[in-house]
Amino acid sequence: MKILMVCLGNICRSPLAEGIMKNKLKQHNLDWEVGSAGTGSWHIGSSPDPRSIDIARQNNIDITSQRGRQFIRQDFDQYDLIFAMDSQNYQNILKLAPNDETKEKVQLIMNLHQPGYNQSVPDPYWDDNGFQKVFDMLDMACDGIVKNYVKT
Ligand code: 4NP
Repeated sequence: MKILMVCLGNICRSPLAEGIMKNKLKQHNLDWEVGSAGTGSWHIGSSPDPRSIDIARQNNIDITSQRGRQFIRQDFDQYDLIFAMDSQNYQNILKLAPNDETKEKVQLIMNLHQPGYNQSVPDPYWDDNGFQKVFDMLDMACDGIVKNYVKT
C-alpha cells in the first residue's frame, strides 16, 4: 500500500501526518510506503516547520529529514490512497485527477476517523497554539487508516 498525505504548504500538517503514519506502521510491522506533498509551491525543498518538528519530537517522532515538495499529477499513478488535510486541498487535488477512477483514491483524512463528517484539519501556520490540536487530530485519523486498511 502506498499512501500520500497532502496539505497546502507541505511544511506543517502533511509532514506530521507522514511521520505519525510511519510510526504507526512500524508498530504494526507493516512495510507500506508513506509520503507527503503540498498543493502549493512556496515551500519546495524546505524542512518541516519548526513547530511541527517540535510537536513530533515530543511524541518521539523525527520528521527532520523530510523536505517539501509539490503535489503532481503523476502522484495519482504512484499512490493507492491520497489523504487531503482540508476541503480546499481536496478540491485542488481532484482538479488534477485524470479521470473519475483516480478521484476515488482521494479522501479527506478526518473521514477515516469520523466517516462522512467531512471535517478539515485546521491550517496551523498562523496559529502557534494550533499544533497540538493538529497532532491529536492526525493521530486519530491515522488510527482510523490502520483500522480501515489493515486486515487483522
Ligand atoms: P500546511 O501549512 O499546509 O499545513 O503546510 C501551511 C504552510 C505554509 C503556508 C500555508 C499553510 N503558506 O502560505 O506559506
